[in-house]
Amino acid sequence: MTELTPVTEATATQAPQPRKLAVPDAQTVTEVKHFTDRLFSFRCTRPASMRFRSGEFVMIGLMAINEKTGKEKPLLRAYSIASPSWDEELEFYSIKVQDGPLTSRLQHIEVGDQIILRPKPVGTLVHDALLPGKRIWLFATGTGFAPFASLLREPQTYEDYDEVIITHTCREVGELTYGRDLIEALKTDELLNEVIGEGFWKKIKYYPTTTREESPKMGRITDLMRKGEAFKDLGVPVINQESDRAMVCGNLAFNLEIKEMLEEYGLEEGANSDPKHYVVEKAFLD
Ligand code: A2P
Repeated sequence: MTELTPVTEATATQAPQPRKLAVPDAQTVTEVKHFTDRLFSFRCTRPASMRFRSGEFVMIGLMAINEKTGKEKPLLRAYSIASPSWDEELEFYSIKVQDGPLTSRLQHIEVGDQIILRPKPVGTLVHDALLPGKRIWLFATGTGFAPFASLLREPQTYEDYDEVIITHTCREVGELTYGRDLIEALKTDELLNEVIGEGFWKKIKYYPTTTREESPKMGRITDLMRKGEAFKDLGVPVINQESDRAMVCGNLAFNLEIKEMLEEYGLEEGANSDPKHYVVEKAFLD
């Protein structure tokens, strides 16, 4: 296990110096995977008492010195939990921002290091916020895939819907790896195959697109839907209130644009207290 030493935000880009945290909410990192120079995922221990619904987020972070007071305090950001509610550990999928206060340091964590996790999950990307439907659309850009990594491993997703469509728009091909690997792994997921039935994964339609590097399907999902191309490719009718439900998680501009489109298709925004046809959450950005 590496020991962490306090690092100020000003020195954030220097070599990281992890240390053991003397805080009540410390959890231990159990796995780290780097995908590109902008993306990584990690797993950590889960507090025994922590319950959450797949799709929710928590506050996680590291200790940092406050430049003004010189005192050390937690530097926390909202992160969607990428692991499903039944998993013994917690998984997170993160961007690396080289001058970002938190991710400039978080990207250097190693197995055995500790992070802070406030075990109070909340969020709107949950099944409870949607009315029953036939087909669910999970719309993600970039690290917005994280809550769907949780929901795609959640049995209820397949119990509630006949079809599960996951769209993921990224700048470059390498940014699709985390999602692609996860979906591929579902085919051999023992728990889901046992609980939902062999071949459950055939309910999933995966629609990855890139915008800045060549790939088999290029373009923003919003444009591909407007042109009707996405519906044609997927072999499904245009989104409608009767059969379709949607969850959205991406950058702000994407969220606003797709929200407007979903409203045009006749869907209304739901909430935990008032389930309707779609829900939206902003992907974590440092
Ligand atoms: P683009 O390359 O055309 O900006 P980011 O990494 O900046 O969060 O972006 C992730 C992906 O989301 C990129 O492929 C980006 O496309 C796409 N994107 C950004 N804004 C929108 C939007 N308003 N509608 C659809 N896709 C968007």
